[in-house]
Amino acid sequence: MKNKLCSKVVAREAVIGIIGLGYVGLPLAREFLKEGFKVCGFDVDLNKVEMLKTGQSYIKHIQDDFLKKHVLETKKLTATSDFARLADVDYILVCVPTPLGKHRNPDLSYVLNSTRSIAQHLRTGHVVVLESSTYPGTTEDDMMPILEATGLKVGVDYYLGYSPEREDPGNKDFSTGTIPKIVSGVTPDCLEVVDCLYREIVTTVRVSTPKVAEASKILENTYRAVNIAMVNELKMLFDRMGINVWEVIDAAKSKPFGFQAFYPGPGLGGHCIPIDPYYLTWKAKEYEFTTRFIELAGEINTQQPYFVVQKAGAALNQHNKSLRGSRILLLGVAYKKDIDDVRESPALTLHELIVKQGALVDYYDPFIPETGPHRHFPGMKLRSIVYSPAAIASYDLVIVVTDHSSFAYDEILANAQLILDTRNVYRLAHEKVFKA
Ligand SMILES: NC(=O)c1ccc[n+]([C@@H]2O[C@H](COP(=O)([O-])OP(=O)(O)OC[C@H]3O[C@@H](n4cnc5c(N)ncnc54)[C@H](O)[C@@H]3O)[C@@H](O)[C@H]2O)c1
Repeated sequence: MKNKLCSKVVAREAVIGIIGLGYVGLPLAREFLKEGFKVCGFDVDLNKVEMLKTGQSYIKHIQDDFLKKHVLETKKLTATSDFARLADVDYILVCVPTPLGKHRNPDLSYVLNSTRSIAQHLRTGHVVVLESSTYPGTTEDDMMPILEATGLKVGVDYYLGYSPEREDPGNKDFSTGTIPKIVSGVTPDCLEVVDCLYREIVTTVRVSTPKVAEASKILENTYRAVNIAMVNELKMLFDRMGINVWEVIDAAKSKPFGFQAFYPGPGLGGHCIPIDPYYLTWKAKEYEFTTRFIELAGEINTQQPYFVVQKAGAALNQHNKSLRGSRILLLGVAYKKDIDDVRESPALTLHELIVKQGALVDYYDPFIPETGPHRHFPGMKLRSIVYSPAAIASYDLVIVVTDHSSFAYDEILANAQLILDTRNVYRLAHEKVFKA
């Protein structure tokens, strides 16, 4: 069965099912389509399914033309919310959200619901691979029992593995097809069938167990969270000492070995870095272990929007104004530059904190025409202002939150009354520009 599956892959006869067609699932579908595979996407969001059926994209970097070609011409891409069609696919790749609950505990409900849907249609020969970021043990201890309850045996009747997603939206140098992919399987045969698929689209890196693969993903993101926290802490200290942290980092990175530059900012955002490390923190408790680096990094990174608000108050103060009653513009709300994703963005926290201080807050972001409600801000409903130099001039303070490449920074500087720069887009000292 294993050899038959891998032969089907090589002959492009294997059908790839992808559950969850979001920022990870859709780019993954694109890679398989590019390599000539048939892809069937599954999503509970009927809106996404309907858009895909007509070849319309809802992700900026996935082009309509590409989708239209594969939906309407080659007919290699189909999208559905009917999980009975899982019976028609060979591989089932699970790319559903793994967020945190209110108390920073893992919310595995999407993974477990998808696994239950798979279990209803699991058949001999199926290969199931989890791609969502999660704590070590999810594949074998949480998913597998649901699949085994069908009576089918892993490594004998069906195959199960874990392969973490490393997609970095907006990254012009690396995309799904050029980032090496870690692959694992519950048994050696599971690893073989998982690897034989992914190596057709990308360079694979085999590891011995799903737990190693799950832990490697958390390590990658914890590494980023901890290093960003360190520079955020130094930013606050150097600010007090009158030293420009960005100049310090530029100087330090001239060392050709042993130093990797990380940059401070208004706080962590996105679906990965602020979330994934806490999956490990939660799991560690089962082993009576405390993940102190993760906790400390979380504490410092969570503090950053509060630091920005404090600096906003100080900047206005110098102009004999207060936050209360001032008009503030957040320049950019996406969680990082040049992308249309606002999940967990520090801009949302900033918005709430500044409004609480009695200021009137608007935002401008060409990537995010409107936003909200959000998980932590259920009542939020915001719309971007229309950009003009006159609009910029009408605000008491412009806070650079996201450093999109398309912003007219010189024009904004010329027109703004006062700027608080959290991203070091204004590298030269200027009387109007404060740093945070
Ligand atoms: N976005 C990234 O840059 C990125 C990078 C690496 C890893 N990841 C990880 O990949 C996973 C997916 O993230 P994403 O950014 O693609 O999320 P997303 O929210 O963009 O997409 C997830 C999709 O899953 C769908 N879904 C939810 N429950 C479902 C169910 N039971 N059945 C079918 N579809 C369902 C949602 O409707 C949505 O379309 C997460 O674990 C995330 O941590 C994301």
